[in-house]
Amino acid sequence: MKLKIHVIGGYGKVGGALLRGLLINQAKLIDLSVSGPQTKELNKLREQYKVKVSTNNLEYALGADFIILAVKPDKVPKVLRELAGGLANKRTDKIILCTAAAVNLIELEKLLQDKAPVVRIMPNLGIAVGQGLIAWYGNGLNKANSQKVDRFLKQFGVAVKVGSDDDIERFTINTGTGLAIDASYLQARIDAGVYSGLSRKLSELAAVQTMQGLLALMREGLYPDFSTVINAVETPAGTTVEATLVLKERSFTATIIKAIDAGVQKIRAIHERVAQVWK
Ligand SMILES: NC(=O)c1ccc[n+]([C@@H]2O[C@H](COP(=O)([O-])OP(=O)(O)OC[C@H]3O[C@@H](n4cnc5c(N)ncnc54)[C@H](OP(=O)(O)O)[C@@H]3O)[C@@H](O)[C@H]2O)c1
Repeated sequence: MKLKIHVIGGYGKVGGALLRGLLINQAKLIDLSVSGPQTKELNKLREQYKVKVSTNNLEYALGADFIILAVKPDKVPKVLRELAGGLANKRTDKIILCTAAAVNLIELEKLLQDKAPVVRIMPNLGIAVGQGLIAWYGNGLNKANSQKVDRFLKQFGVAVKVGSDDDIERFTINTGTGLAIDASYLQARIDAGVYSGLSRKLSELAAVQTMQGLLALMREGLYPDFSTVINAVETPAGTTVEATLVLKERSFTATIIKAIDAGVQKIRAIHERVAQVWK
């Protein structure tokens, strides 16, 4: 029997990435449906992916094995109350997965009135191509459901179970925001290549292929960690030590640490604000 999956907010950025990720290798094994407020956007998804669509969040959700909430945090209470109203009694045959940042698990459980197990998931956009990292956190799952969630999430790339809401927020910044930080670094490398005299096209090739080579070297286990790669390239008194000295002088590491920390502080502030609004 096909696994029934319903995505609420499926034409948003995360919802869209989830749909694509599900359909690239599971299309024949799943029964996928989507809901959201705009008929025009839903119809585009129906045409593109041949999925069932509805403007009514409950129409397909109530029959699904997994219900994924991919709406903004401020929309979560409304949608969860809708679900709680639609689900008859306590159900353990369906699992709700919520992508929202800055909303504690306990708040989700309260809103759902314990009608079904709920899990926080924190994906990044790499899920669209099966190369995502999803951190997940759920308290009230039995062993079978815990395994089911882990198996389900692994199809998007790598899934890791974490132990607290705080860990989920840390992942929000290190993987979600992290994608933008890594893209900013590569964009800067491309600009630097152009500054050195390469065409933009060749500079992009140099930056991207160098990064891919680095990751492959690590993946294949040729180097145990990043510092040994740096040591391998740094000839004494050579060009690389000259270049990496500038990174040290300009506090490259401290800049990245501060960037991640700024994101973490911000998400804590958003969390406080969301908690006030929900009171
Ligand atoms: N973006 C990321 O990289 C990222 C990463 C990890 C987690 N998240 C989390 O994922 C969630 C979605 O983020 P996003 O960036 O994908 O936001 P988004 O692009 O704004 O998508 C949200 C979607 O929810 C729909 N929606 C609004 N109200 C709804 C309702 N009552 N019922 C059903 N659907 C409704 C929206 O439709 P309309 O546009 O028609 O209102 C939109 O399609 C957020 O909670 C965010 O914290 C985001």
